[in-house]
Order: sequence, then structure tokens, then C-alpha cells
Amino acid sequence: MNTKRTIWFWLFLTIAISLLTIILSFYITTNSTITKDLSSPAFELPLLKWVIQQTGINDLFSFITRNFGPNTSLSRHRHSRHVAACDPNKWNSPLVAKYKVSLVLTVDKKGCGKFNSLQNAVNAVPDLSQTTTLIILDSGTYREKVKVNKTKTNLIIQGQSYLDTAIAWNDTSHSSGGTYYSYTVGIFAPKFVAYNVSFKNTSPENIGGEGRQAVALRIVGDQAAFYGCGFYGFQDTLHDDEGRHYFKDCFIQGSIDFIFGNARSLYKGCTLNAVGTGAGITGAITAHGRDSKDKKTGFSFLQCRIEGRGKVWLGRAWGVYATTVFSNTFMSEVVSPEGWNDWRDPPRDRLVFFGEFENSGPGANLKNRVHYTKRLTQAQAAPYMDIAFIDGKEWLASA
Ligand SMILES: *[C@@H]1O[C@H](CO)[C@@H](O)[C@H](O)[C@H]1NC(C)=O
Ligand SMILES: *[C@@H]1O[C@H](CO)[C@@H](O)[C@H](O)[C@H]1NC(C)=O
Ligand SMILES: *[C@@H]1O[C@H](CO)[C@@H](O)[C@H](O)[C@H]1NC(C)=O
Ligand SMILES: *[C@@H]1O[C@H](CO)[C@@H](O)[C@H](O)[C@H]1NC(C)=O
Repeated sequence: MNTKRTIWFWLFLTIAISLLTIILSFYITTNSTITKDLSSPAFELPLLKWVIQQTGINDLFSFITRNFGPNTSLSRHRHSRHVAACDPNKWNSPLVAKYKVSLVLTVDKKGCGKFNSLQNAVNAVPDLSQTTTLIILDSGTYREKVKVNKTKTNLIIQGQSYLDTAIAWNDTSHSSGGTYYSYTVGIFAPKFVAYNVSFKNTSPENIGGEGRQAVALRIVGDQAAFYGCGFYGFQDTLHDDEGRHYFKDCFIQGSIDFIFGNARSLYKGCTLNAVGTGAGITGAITAHGRDSKDKKTGFSFLQCRIEGRGKVWLGRAWGVYATTVFSNTFMSEVVSPEGWNDWRDPPRDRLVFFGEFENSGPGANLKNRVHYTKRLTQAQAAPYMDIAFIDGKEWLASA
């Protein structure tokens, strides 16, 4: 559209100039006998103006410029409407200074950003970068399955708020060839950070159905942090698979094993929202996958809130050395009195580490807990209550 306009403009301009030259040369030739001062600029300019006015080229010229010029009032008007809809300040971010960001990529659905899909922006992130790339998402729901593969290091994704910026897809274990591939967003690169964005798996709850697991986010990369993010699904919402991770002020929703994997992660100030349905036990908040004594993996929940509906276990022993600790956390009545489950495999009772320290609320009563629950002392709980648990001092920009 714009290119066509520009071509027309130059075409008309060329014709107008040719016309003007012909008329002018005619005028000059016929009047050159009148004065020898014709060539002086002082005389030339008013004469030129007069000629243009007399011939009506003036009107033609301004008509052309107004309607076909690249910088015409018409295009300026369009441009200003464009600017009003696209607020350039939207892309200002405090993270640029904080993380010494070297490249900012913008994504939105209205044509105001550089990209209209998150995956396209991710593909444009420099490979194996030592400096930070920031992708800013405008508010809205991006319906796409996104993979951040191993080479996309030092990437930050920033949304506007977890309540209004989301990446959503609806694969299930059945549709994708296994739970591990059902993620909406899969992060395989180290040093990934997300702010104020939601990860959703929108496939419907399918109690007891085949291949019903449906992951919203799978995080495999080491040293990842999530601030103010949302995670939505039912069974297996958050696949906290491998590496050291930090989740701060996040909202995590699901039914069965909705935080699972074999990562070493600290969840601080998060809301855990159980949404299982049915009679009896409706799910478990965690299913930690530690399978070896030697690994240092585990999930630690600090100053969190457990809410929702149904009755859930705090965790069950997916791995025989499953390690999960809750400290200073509010537990509503959705937490089942027995608290934990050994995957119906009693030998695991001696191997798992399921700890609780100074929790509150109706679900925090330790009286009817399973016998292998660890009632931690301050000293025993301390290693799980600090970012040192994930070596955060080495790599976290902000705790
Ligand atoms: C159009 O106008 C803007 C500012 O008004 C200017 O920066 C730009 O260079 C102009 N473009 C052309 C092709 O004249
Ligand atoms: C990385 O991701 C892009 C986009 O999904 C894909 O085209 C490419 O094949 C991936 N590379 C590897 C090594 O997985
Ligand atoms: C995902 O949603 C689309 C559109 O709503 C639907 O056609 C598709 O079957 C769904 N996929 C799965 C695996 O449920
Ligand atoms: C994320 O959202 C919180 C809460 O609205 C806000 O205080 C914070 O500044 C946001 N952070 C970024 C990087 O946008």
C-alpha cells in the first residue's frame, strides 16, 4: 500500500517537473529580451512563483503531494492514529537495566510489536548468548505451543500481568505422545527468567481418562526463575523437571500431581490452588521424582498458601527418595489430614523426606499425619528456607 503510494508520488512529481520545465523555458525564451537580470536569483524566485501560480501547477502539485506523498497530511494522519493505538512506552521495562539486556524483542497481536507470535520471537534470540535478551509480551492470550530449546540461553520473557497475559495450548499426553511432550511451553535452555505471564494448558479436565496428563510448563534448563507467573492445568500442570529453579509470588493451579519432576526448586510466596473434583482424595500438590540418595533434588515451599477445593495430599512419592518440605505455609482444609502418600509402596516410607515446619491453618494439623512425616526443627528446616537451597546467591538476580 505505502510502496504503491510512493511510486505514484514520484511518477506525478516527475510529470509535474517536466511540465514546469517546458512552461518555464517557453516563458524565459519569450521574455529574455526584456532584461539581462533574469538570471539573478533575486529575480528568478518571485518569477518562478508567479509562473507556478499562473499556470495552476501549484494546485496540481499540492493536490499530488497531499494525496500521494509519502509524508502527506493524509499519511501523517494515519500515522498519528497508528501511534495512538501503539503506545511505544509499553515496551519500556525496568528489566533492561536490571539484567543489562542487550536485545529487546516485542510481541503483540495488534501489529505494534516486532512479532505476533512468541515462538517467532524466541527463534530470533541469538544462540548461546552470554548477554540477556528480553522478550516483552503485550497483554492477550497467545495460542501456541512454544519451545525454547537449549541454545536460547539468557532469555527473559516478560508479560503485563499473569492475569491478562498468557501462553495457552491444549496438548495432552495422548495427543502429544507422552506427558513429557504435552507442555504448552517447554524451556530447555539454562538461565531462563519469566515475569508476570501465565502458562496454561487448556485441555479440559478428564478424570480417569486415558492420556489425560496435560502439562502447561516444562522446565528442564538449569538456573531458571519465575516471578509473578501463573500456571494453569489439571493433572501435571507444572513439570519442574530438572535443574535449580526459583518460583516467587506465583499462582499454580491443578488437580493431580500438579507440581512434579526431579528438579531442586524453591517456591516462595506462591499460591497453590487445588481444583480436583470427585469424592475422597482428589489429587496431590506435588509428586517429586528423586530416585537416588545421591541427588540433591527436592521441592521446598516457603511462605506459600494452599487453597482450592477437594482433598489433596501435600505430596506423594513418585520417586523413592522424593523430597518435599513445606515451611511457614498456610494450609486450608483442602489438605487431607494424613498429609502425604507413599505411592502405595510402603518400602518408600523409609526413603522419602516429607517435612513440615511451622505451617498454619486447618490443614496444617500434624496429629493425623502418616507416620513417616518429618516434623522438622528450626535447624533441620533452615537449609530449605533460603535461596542457598538452590545456590541462588550464585545466579539469582533478585530473591
Ligand atoms: C517524514 O516526516 C518525518 C517527520 O515528520 C521525517 O522524519 C521523515 O524523514 C519524513 N520522510 C520522508 C520520506 O520525507
Ligand atoms: C530449536 O527450536 C526451533 C524452533 O522451534 C527449531 O526449528 C529447531 O529445530 C530447534 N533446534 C533444536 C536443536 O532442537
Ligand atoms: C485443542 O483445541 C482445538 C480447538 O479448540 C481442538 O480442535 C483440538 O482437538 C484440541 N486438541 C486436543 C488435544 O484436545
Ligand atoms: C510484575 O507485576 C508486579 C505486580 O503487578 C509489578 O509490581 C512488577 O513491577 C511487574 N514486574 C515487571 C518486570 O513488569
